[in-house]
Amino acid sequence: MDKNMIYRNFANIKDVSVLGLGTVKFGRNQGVKYPNGNGFELPSDQQIEEILDLILGQGVNLIDTAPAYGSSEIRLGQLMQQRRDDLFIVSKTGEEFEDGKSEYIFTKEHTEFSIHRSLKRLKTDRLDSVLVHCNRQDLDIINNTDVLETLSRLKEKGDILSYGMSTNTVEAGLKAVDLTDIIMVAYNPSYTEQLPVIEYANKKGKSIIIKKAFDSGHLTDNYSQIIESVVNLNGVTSIIFGSINPKNILANIAAIGG
Ligand SMILES: NC(=O)c1ccc[n+]([C@@H]2O[C@H](COP(=O)([O-])OP(=O)(O)OC[C@H]3O[C@@H](n4cnc5c(N)ncnc54)[C@H](OP(=O)(O)O)[C@@H]3O)[C@@H](O)[C@H]2O)c1
Repeated sequence: MDKNMIYRNFANIKDVSVLGLGTVKFGRNQGVKYPNGNGFELPSDQQIEEILDLILGQGVNLIDTAPAYGSSEIRLGQLMQQRRDDLFIVSKTGEEFEDGKSEYIFTKEHTEFSIHRSLKRLKTDRLDSVLVHCNRQDLDIINNTDVLETLSRLKEKGDILSYGMSTNTVEAGLKAVDLTDIIMVAYNPSYTEQLPVIEYANKKGKSIIIKKAFDSGHLTDNYSQIIESVVNLNGVTSIIFGSINPKNILANIAAIGG
């Protein structure tokens, strides 16, 4: 814990930093929506280790990955090593990304396969949280698949410590608040449609993590101000921001007094 970082409880498991690092850019530079598109080089192993030490040194203990983020899980597993226990790892299930294309699979069999693969790739005995990596049919995933039931069983077994959904529609987000431990929604000054989900989660005492707080780098607003305002929004547990640039990482952390 760092005295300059702010921590909030995540799904009654652990206190996590209000800023977490998203790791799409550790492993995937195809089919991404960043301003420079696919035209960036993945960081080297040494750069990733330096970023992990940098965030941990600043008190950031929350990290977000997914099977759909190319080699992100594998690289984290290889490179975090003794840092594992200092990190709270969120991964996902449901989206596969291969040969430049996404495929979505929400069966019981695939969910079990995916979680066990994540455990192996990340070289760990538990995932602190797993989110359903939803497409636009997120309500259908809740109503017509057994993915949440499967995650509940994996939680009972101890393979995962909590689970939730990274949703896209407000309807599914509201329902996910009732049914799961944690909800991830997009929110930034240009996209506030998910506010009802954040407010409902706050009312129900459920954790919310924010994705795309900078609209994947497309906003021209001041990023420090965005961080300050989103972190102080009632109901928000943490913002997961993406970055492989140490200068930007430090600037983002400084925005909350780090
Ligand atoms: N469906 C889902 O579940 C889902 C979808 C999208 C994202 N996510 C998660 O949320 C995380 C964040 O989303 P995101 O990466 O799409 O978008 P984001 O955090 O809104 O923006 C990331 C972009 O902003 C740039 N950036 C960061 N800090 C900056 C600063 N201080 N000044 C200037 N530029 C800065 C980064 O570039 P540099 O690398 O150059 O700093 C990066 O290109 C992802 O990494 C992922 O973990 C989940």
